[in-house]
Amino acid sequence: MQINLGKLKLNKPLILAPMDGYTNIPFRLIIKEMQPDLMFTEFVNADAIIYTNKKTMNKIQILEEERPVAIQLFGHNPENMAKAAQIVEAFGPEVIDLNFGCPSPKVSGHGNGAGLLKNLPLLGEICEKVAKSVNIPVTAKTRIGWDFNTINILETGKIIENSGIKMLTLHPRTKSQKYKGEADWSYIKLLKENISIPVIGNGDIKSPEDAKRMYDETNCDGIMIGREAVSNPWIFRQTREFFETGNYEKEISFEERLKFCLLHFDLSVEYLGDQRAQFEMRKLYQNYFRALPNLKRFKRLAFSTTDPQEIRSHIENVMSIVNDHLIDSMELIPKVKWDA
Ligand SMILES: Cc1cc2nc3c(=O)[nH]c(=O)nc-3n(C[C@H](O)[C@H](O)[C@H](O)COP(=O)(O)O)c2cc1C
Repeated sequence: MQINLGKLKLNKPLILAPMDGYTNIPFRLIIKEMQPDLMFTEFVNADAIIYTNKKTMNKIQILEEERPVAIQLFGHNPENMAKAAQIVEAFGPEVIDLNFGCPSPKVSGHGNGAGLLKNLPLLGEICEKVAKSVNIPVTAKTRIGWDFNTINILETGKIIENSGIKMLTLHPRTKSQKYKGEADWSYIKLLKENISIPVIGNGDIKSPEDAKRMYDETNCDGIMIGREAVSNPWIFRQTREFFETGNYEKEISFEERLKFCLLHFDLSVEYLGDQRAQFEMRKLYQNYFRALPNLKRFKRLAFSTTDPQEIRSHIENVMSIVNDHLIDSMELIPKVKWDA
């Protein structure tokens, strides 16, 4: 099914999932190089938008070159959500998405995110008010229910499709599961069979083969990838190649990894500033260089300084740093004692 989101038309799209603490501008610009069809921002608190909290306002900045982008909102007050959506609309996203899935106690415990799965009338009111308050398409993302005793995805899906929401993403775990166990894709199939708006499947896609299997098993209209995009940004390129040719480049070369790590570092310094760039990049080195042995030595060096130029040169020299370590370890091997 072609997905119509205003001017945006998507066919079997590959979508970058919203990930708090990750899907900021530098990360999205890296993923954009891998040609996803749509990318999500981190979720943002609707109330903080209304109060123009500086940190939150930074999260809804979008660059022309990363379009199309969806900005995701969370909150539980329908009026505030609608007001925040209007503010967000002025920042020019193609789509506004509503978060009904976050399991974090800080969010769901206050009736936001997955907390709304315990109050479906309120969830419906939020959808209706937000959809009516803006001129761009509004979508939603959710889980199958609060816990295994209260799975209510079909009821949730029906309410959402009847309240002006244009597309629904399902991460088929309960709130209580958080990220444990396996995502049960049979719920994606069930949802797709029971609602008429497009359904995006999400959860545990770790390879192009998984992406294909999700389409085959669920008949979903698009797929969304989260954690694998952090550990392997190339997943989007690989998946597209796999769909088009039946094959894909499995091993990403060291040179390519180094190139993208340096680009990610430079973009982080440019858009987040020296200090945050260092902090954010610390989460990512092991992904870019995961095939290298002795990465600890590189990390020790890269984490030991706050000078961006110095860190950058450590990244450039990562190969010789980890190789040096091999020499170190060889030196640690006790010398052979020759028996006279
Ligand atoms: C670190 C992290 C942050 C996340 N932040 C968000 C978020 O802001 N909004 C949201 O809807 N889901 C969020 N999620 C959930 C993901 O979007 C996705 O639904 C989940 O990770 C399952 O997909 P995956 O197996 O491809 O990672 C987050 C997940 C992780 C691991």
